Amino acid sequence: MKVLLFGGAGYIGTHVALAFLDRGDTVGVFDDFSSGLRENVQKECILYEHSILDEKAVNEALNDGWDVVVHLAAFKAAGESMVDPSKYALNNITGSLNLIRGCQAHSVNAFILSSSAAVYGEPQYLPIDEKHPTSPLNYYGYTKRAIEENLEWFHQLHGSNYVSLRYFNAAGYDAEGKMRGLEKNPANLIPVVMEVATGKRSAIQVFGNDYDTSDGTGVRDYVHVTDLADAHVKAADYLLKEKQSLIVNLGSESGLSVREIIDETRKVTQKEIKEEIVGRRAGDPAKLVASSKMAKDILGWEAKHSSLNQIIKTTWDAYQKS
Ligand code: WQD
Repeated sequence: MKVLLFGGAGYIGTHVALAFLDRGDTVGVFDDFSSGLRENVQKECILYEHSILDEKAVNEALNDGWDVVVHLAAFKAAGESMVDPSKYALNNITGSLNLIRGCQAHSVNAFILSSSAAVYGEPQYLPIDEKHPTSPLNYYGYTKRAIEENLEWFHQLHGSNYVSLRYFNAAGYDAEGKMRGLEKNPANLIPVVMEVATGKRSAIQVFGNDYDTSDGTGVRDYVHVTDLADAHVKAADYLLKEKQSLIVNLGSESGLSVREIIDETRKVTQKEIKEEIVGRRAGDPAKLVASSKMAKDILGWEAKHSSLNQIIKTTWDAYQKS
């Protein structure tokens, strides 16, 4: 199969490329390297170096006969999206519409979207399944929901199909060490803890220890990026075989606290990791855990690499190498 990855040089995109290449598919990577890393694009990939805002370049790339398009080209800092929504409106919404319209024009009828648990907002019940109402707490989450809604309209009006993959907290690195560069300017918990372990930062700030959770710190569902990558391959097969659309959660279905992440990092790295308890971060729910039953039942997907130890160990291996 021929798969074109928009945002294929980013943290998740490079792992998705590996998963398709591993089974012999032809992989195109379309990326402007605003946050993606050149050194992580495998040499077998066909590279298009452009922004998704460049409609002409998007259409030229789509003209090359792709079976499936995967869209991972988005800004993803929820906090920043509340300060600079224009940046997110332009890249995440306008850019996505360029891809959706381009796919229609070139009869690419299979579209996979990197969506996010951020579409749900404050959980009304746990674990969160796909029937949970969507009510994003930040503009970033809204942009993902807006793209899903457009995919649904194009599905209804033109018969094109999509799979929207709602990732929970993506984490970990390729266990075979194929990634050479790390994510630029990370803000998420695990990379920040790693930077404390390597000495790049002096301490990890724990955003609140008074939540209603087992140890008072925030609980999230961390899912290994290799498991996420595998879900894209399964979604591509589903689209080509079943010719139907689908929205599914991707999570490990187990909640880990900030404290458990820090403690495991101390154990794996054997480094002293200083911590500082600070106030809660605005917009942070106490606990987010996925139900991934639909992904299991429909796609036959399972999180196989998402144990706490595998997530921390593969991340530490990547940080030590770089
Ligand atoms: C995890 C936990 C923090 C940093 C974000 C986006 C979301 C999705 C995934 C893309 C929380 C705590 C964090 C730190 C801390 N992105 N924390 N100190 O907020 O669950 O999700 O990434 O789709 O849209 O919002 O992830 O890694 O920032 O936080 O204590 O320095 O770690 O409070 O409990 P989050 P995170």
